[in-house]
Amino acid sequence: MINVGIVGCGYWGPNLVRNFNSLSDCRVRWVCDTQAERLSYIEGLYPHIRTTVEYAEVVADAEIDAIAVATPVRLHFEMAKQSLEAGKHTFIEKPMAASVEQCRELIEIAREKGLTLMVGHTFIYSAPVRKIKEIVDSGDLGQIQYISARRLNLGLFQPDINVAWDLAPHDISIVLYVLGQFPVSANCQGKAHIKAGIEDVTNMTLNFSDSALATIQSSWLDPNKVRQITFVGNKKMLVYDDVEPIEKIKIYDKRVEAPPHYDTFGEFQYSYHYGDMYSPYLRLVEPLKTECRHFLDCIKDGSEPLSGGAAGLDVVRILEAASESLRTGGAAIRVSR
Ligand SMILES: NC(=O)c1ccc[n+]([C@@H]2O[C@H](COP(=O)([O-])OP(=O)(O)OC[C@H]3O[C@@H](n4cnc5c(N)ncnc54)[C@H](O)[C@@H]3O)[C@@H](O)[C@H]2O)c1
Repeated sequence: MINVGIVGCGYWGPNLVRNFNSLSDCRVRWVCDTQAERLSYIEGLYPHIRTTVEYAEVVADAEIDAIAVATPVRLHFEMAKQSLEAGKHTFIEKPMAASVEQCRELIEIAREKGLTLMVGHTFIYSAPVRKIKEIVDSGDLGQIQYISARRLNLGLFQPDINVAWDLAPHDISIVLYVLGQFPVSANCQGKAHIKAGIEDVTNMTLNFSDSALATIQSSWLDPNKVRQITFVGNKKMLVYDDVEPIEKIKIYDKRVEAPPHYDTFGEFQYSYHYGDMYSPYLRLVEPLKTECRHFLDCIKDGSEPLSGGAAGLDVVRILEAASESLRTGGAAIRVSR
């Protein structure tokens, strides 16, 4: 039995409570939040869970094996550090921390103490993203040339981070996972329309060394909820629409080819190929449940999580470069591991 404490019970935290609570080898022992009404909500649903407004009380409990941090990003580092230093396996919601330096420090503490450190890159635990990885790895789409990700809706505005730090971690983690590569540079442009200094619309570009290009559009200023990623290969194209209830992935047998050799303008003709579209079957399971299960399994067998500290650091490396690019009006900022 793994005893878990969860800190931060606002919008997302209750989902962690529900999923950890549903796993038979896990007991949610504590939920912590500074807002008493959030704790009353949890007490109403789960009378057996202890609640507190003092995070120190959770950290000090010798019975606790692991802590999940679901507070605002500015608090991730300090809370995760306290958790690791107290010898607890630690799960941190995305993005892992507010800087590369903070991520490195957390990875180091976890390594020294032999603890599991995992980041909540939820989508890489989802059936559609796993299926996309399988399809891309099989070569069915051919060489990936271009990825276009759009994650848009009205709000929810965050007071301390811009929309790229809030929404793009999902798309960045999906792109890195599916391609299995790290970009060479990142560009980002954006604008703060509602709150000065906090961009509510951003457009990020990741450039990969094999010439693949990924664009990631993030917005809190859109009338519609859009969660769409298009993968364009030189053989086929794939559209992943997470808002679709069932057919979340559609594969299009479409491509365009330019003739390799031609002598006159008259001979030059693009060749457009229009074939069938199909939607592969997906066995949909709540990704967060798979993610929580994976965290417990990694604690038990000591293996590195799929979204461990290194994966969390990779995403923050790109977010940090994107912030630097934003300050320079969109210049390309080199990134490396
Ligand atoms: N994986 C996902 O799909 C996903 C989705 C949404 C949010 N998130 C992440 O979850 C985290 C929380 O986001 P949210 O939208 O739930 O934010 P939120 O503001 O709704 O909730 C944060 C909660 O933390 C509490 N809190 C603040 N300071 C505290 C402290 N010192 N001690 C204890 N509790 C404290 C607040 O009272 C609040 O209830 C963020 O890192 C966010 O990026 C992840």
